[in-house]
Amino acid sequence: MLNKSRLTAVLVSAAVVTTATAGQVEVLHYWTSGGEAKSVAELKKMMEAKGHVWKDFAVAGGGGDNAATVLKSRVVSGNPPAAAQIKGPAIQEWASEGVLANLDSVGKAENWDSLLPKVVADVMKYKGNYVAVPVNVHRVNWLWGSAAALKKAGVTGMPKTWDEFFLAADKIKKSGLIAVAHSGQNIWDFTTFESVVLGVGGAKFYEDALVKLDQKALTSETMKKSLETFRRIKTYVDPAAPGRDWNLSTALVIQDKAAFQFMGDWAKGEFVAAAKAPGKDFLCAAAPGSGNAYTFNVDSFAMFKLKDAGAQKAQNDLAASIMGTDFQQVFNLNKGSIPVRLNVAMGKFDECAKLSSKDFVDTAKVGGLVPSVAHGMAIKPAAEGAIKDAVSQFWSDDRISVADGMKNIAKAAATK
Ligand code: GAL
Repeated sequence: MLNKSRLTAVLVSAAVVTTATAGQVEVLHYWTSGGEAKSVAELKKMMEAKGHVWKDFAVAGGGGDNAATVLKSRVVSGNPPAAAQIKGPAIQEWASEGVLANLDSVGKAENWDSLLPKVVADVMKYKGNYVAVPVNVHRVNWLWGSAAALKKAGVTGMPKTWDEFFLAADKIKKSGLIAVAHSGQNIWDFTTFESVVLGVGGAKFYEDALVKLDQKALTSETMKKSLETFRRIKTYVDPAAPGRDWNLSTALVIQDKAAFQFMGDWAKGEFVAAAKAPGKDFLCAAAPGSGNAYTFNVDSFAMFKLKDAGAQKAQNDLAASIMGTDFQQVFNLNKGSIPVRLNVAMGKFDECAKLSSKDFVDTAKVGGLVPSVAHGMAIKPAAEGAIKDAVSQFWSDDRISVADGMKNIAKAAATK
């Protein structure tokens, strides 16, 4: 049995060991809405339980454009955070700068290759090495509905086609409610636009036009029809939409003041945070015409090269925690997304998440699984930014004809 002084010495040395291996991990992210904040708090809890100090570096601004700007300034000044929310092709761009830490010691040890769909694992690697860890799979091509608003307007069920959508929207407008809760910001204009293109033209057309940036597709009759449909949605949006944050539009649906919102399933995180039940208080459905397709948006974190051994240990623990089954469950239950790690039990997830999980697999089999352009999954940031600007100009300025809008978008897509 250890005597008192010996026991104290052991405890002190253990504390020193813990402190020595524990480290501070500063995490740059943009999850600041109700549902998002609850989700990221779970990761903070897990890291603190491992003895690390979590330094929260939250940059408000849904979609992450503000966070990307702040990250660039931190890295350029030689003071990168330990981890940052970076996803899609941007991972390759950051990795090519030589500033990202190699995560193979965790990725290989934890066998991520067998735990991830190959399409996801490949996005997380640079020249064959893991440099980022995936958090979830969000589906973007959703339409959310307020059950009470639809009932009040005499609309039964969620529209499956664009004709059904506009019939429903007319009824909702007549009932005095907001038909579409839109957020008039660059990224949300495009989030709606890409769901329209997917629904009007199908997955192959979406890939040709918005991922391959094929000029023929971008100037086709199908693109003309997509832009006409997109512009028609605007006639159902309330005057306070310009500049509104995405979660404030979701709040209008939660409060039954608006009937519909075109939004990724991070919106479900807001419904869950407001203790609303799917199927009872709100409804989820694939955006009209896109039931056999799935625009995926995988959030991920990249770690920056740091010298301190404690910080490196904290980074590796962060990566391992994110891909762990416990985190994959608790985070995604709050975030509205589904686990990215394969074979995580879905029993606790609701009907919207189960539909997403089923469709993620089914659409992959029929070529309907496509990357979200709006959320940085598909094309280089420069081209993405140029196309988003052209689409937002078309949305905002009714004087721009469909023909001119189509020309401007095609021109923007040619940005090198
Ligand atoms: C997306 C991001 C999601 C969600 C949303 C709103 O780009 O991938 O995790 O939080 O923005 O901020």
